[in-house]
Amino acid sequence: MNQFLARSVMRRLVNSGSNCKRCISSLSSPLSLSSSAATAAAEVHKPSSESVVMMSGKRLGFSGQWWRMMSSASEPPTKKSTSSSTTVRKEDEKGEKTSDASVEKMERKNDQVVVSSYWGVSRPKITREDGSVWPWNCFMPWETYQADLSIDLSKHHVPKAFLDKVAYWTVKLLRIPTDLLFKKKYGCRAMMLETVAGVPGMVGGMLLHLRSLRKFEQSGGWIKALLEEAENERMHLMTMVELVQPKWYERLLVLAVQGVFFNFYFVLYVLSPKLGHRIVGYLEEEAIHSYTLYLNDIDRGEIENIPAPAIAIDYWRLPKDATLKHVITVIRADEAHHRDVNHFASDIHYQGKKLQEAAAPVGYH
Ligand SMILES: [Fe+2]
Ligand SMILES: [Fe+2]
Repeated sequence: MNQFLARSVMRRLVNSGSNCKRCISSLSSPLSLSSSAATAAAEVHKPSSESVVMMSGKRLGFSGQWWRMMSSASEPPTKKSTSSSTTVRKEDEKGEKTSDASVEKMERKNDQVVVSSYWGVSRPKITREDGSVWPWNCFMPWETYQADLSIDLSKHHVPKAFLDKVAYWTVKLLRIPTDLLFKKKYGCRAMMLETVAGVPGMVGGMLLHLRSLRKFEQSGGWIKALLEEAENERMHLMTMVELVQPKWYERLLVLAVQGVFFNFYFVLYVLSPKLGHRIVGYLEEEAIHSYTLYLNDIDRGEIENIPAPAIAIDYWRLPKDATLKHVITVIRADEAHHRDVNHFASDIHYQGKKLQEAAAPVGYH
């Protein structure tokens, strides 16, 4: 029985290998693929003894085959096969003179990836304005910005309508367990809350995207605006996680909270986007309040004003000697912008209109 299974697996692998080769040869002629590229592609799909061993449940040879599949190169990362990319990296390393640990970590990760030119997606050399190499893959220089610190932090939407009061008191109630859990551990609190803050923009953007497809209508830029908000919140989290390393039970809590909050907000946004945006507006008001308390503790010296993480310096175009206080100040300004966007979105719904009828605040940070 085992022999029969092994033979059948071998036959399938040989057949799939020849099918793949057929696909490649049919593609190579109209697209005029170079022979080396075609060879490299064929090598990716070539059934080898390693893959047979892998398919029969043994791990021997797995890493070699997997590496070839992921890199789409015909050889494992030897010095010879990666000479061009190594040269580029060496040039990059000469220009890079930063001692920041996170930048170095990012560079080490990049160095482990051998760039393949076969798919034509290798990243061009990107530099900062001062000519040093751009170390981030998670965001690009054209996505960075200087936070608008002139925004009014004290603005508040007074709840008058019934749903506004529901939103307001829901957020006030949610604050109680948060205060009890984190007390004055503002770094920890911010990190945890940013994992939640990135959800509404993504849910709203996704549902508007699906609506646009379903109804054959434009979104008025609101899909982009909400997804931008989600991305901005995620960058807050990526920054906070550089400052506060989450413990295992905090990671567990994030899993539980995300599972509950995503589903809650999804259903809420389907039923009443008006209430959804209003709740987020009030959550942002609370975030401004929390970050203000965080800043007060930094000013009083109760929290050490450590140097800003490198990711924050590049994302918000902060000075090189920026500190934690700079970072929290720009994050708080972002939260104030999110507050305005979400209260604005809720107001549009209150007027009985669709979001696309008003100009979407794209790029509003
Ligand atoms: Fe945030
Ligand atoms: Fe926010």
